[in-house]
Amino acid sequence: MKNLLFALLLAFGIYANAQKFDKLALTPPMGWNSWNKFACDVNEDLIRQTADAMVSTGLKDAGYLYINIDDCWHGKRDSLGFIHPDPKRFPSGMKALADYIHSKGLKLGIYSDAGKQTCGGRPGSRGYEYQDALTYANWGIDYLKFDWCNTDGLKAEESYKTMRDALYATKHPIVFSICEWGNSKPWTWAKDVGHLWRTTGDIYPCWNCELGHGSWVSNGVLRILDMQKDLRQYAGPGHWNDPDMLEVGNGMTINEDRAHFSIWCMLAAPLIAGNDLRNMKNEIFNILSNKEVIAIDQDSLGIQCFKMLDDGDLQIFVKPLKNDELAICFLNRGENIKKVDFNWKGYFIYDGDRNINYDFNKNTYKIRDLWQKKDVGTTKESYKTEIPGHDVALLRLNKF
Ligand code: GLA
Repeated sequence: MKNLLFALLLAFGIYANAQKFDKLALTPPMGWNSWNKFACDVNEDLIRQTADAMVSTGLKDAGYLYINIDDCWHGKRDSLGFIHPDPKRFPSGMKALADYIHSKGLKLGIYSDAGKQTCGGRPGSRGYEYQDALTYANWGIDYLKFDWCNTDGLKAEESYKTMRDALYATKHPIVFSICEWGNSKPWTWAKDVGHLWRTTGDIYPCWNCELGHGSWVSNGVLRILDMQKDLRQYAGPGHWNDPDMLEVGNGMTINEDRAHFSIWCMLAAPLIAGNDLRNMKNEIFNILSNKEVIAIDQDSLGIQCFKMLDDGDLQIFVKPLKNDELAICFLNRGENIKKVDFNWKGYFIYDGDRNINYDFNKNTYKIRDLWQKKDVGTTKESYKTEIPGHDVALLRLNKF
């Protein structure tokens, strides 16, 4: 009863303030989410074991923090309207689970939906926003992904603002992840609403395919990359474009996984692993845990990359970094090996959105290959390499 009264007070705005929590997600959030690998097959053992694996593998040390439960954790609402987890799947309850996750130095995320039901047909938060926000705060939840199924007649901006205000009213800091698939161009309105917003429909673990599901499609890595065009100016510390969670380790080739991870880092995307961390091959761990590559994603300037050159199968992306450094990604979209012979002095790289330029005739930069983990010369000489099909060369340049 006390809870219900408090929720009502919150709903009437007595403690409410129209704001999102600031100082959160100042670099793109890193963690894990259950959906890409496990879909609705979630339970507390999986979540605990994943948290254990996050620590024991070293991924936590590499920066991964959030353990996020996606759809289908829900049980029913009680007679007062409070949501409870599925008692069979989460018999110990969410508070105990959050305590366990926190005892490992990690944070717990959960999922709901702005409509009456989630995409998986579980109870949504429509009409229960303040009550659900209070429940999540009482459980100690640190991250909420808020989906957009079953929302006929609702306006995204209004719905997400309602949930933002409900979360803020609890005073319990929480990362707010907007998941309406880019339909209403959230990058134009969500900077002060959420910490990240999906820019596309769902990802699928393939290089350049599209998978139909009747009324909607999921997309491979390259298709999602191409949909990020023109969005870079909207991203920055505390407010990120989210091209969806990672599919590294979920069935693509190792070259494709490496390229996928590199591209997401160039995009300053949230790095939310989506594979089974408990059974991860070394080669997958080596991708997810490459600290020099992660540092590109986590750079404090928070600038998303731009495409500086498009030559059919070969594309070159540039991401300005702090201290006048930069990351360059040579992407081979095609199946065949690409030879690269890149004469730095022939290019003047200019980021028009930020008015930053790199002049290789004036300055010389040292080049580090982040996947080979070695220094590979300077911009005085041409950069020569061969890139396998569906792969990248990822470089970090810093001035002498
Ligand atoms: C939507 C989201 C996915 C996932 C599922 C869960 O499709 O875009 O990321 O959360 O719902 O049902």
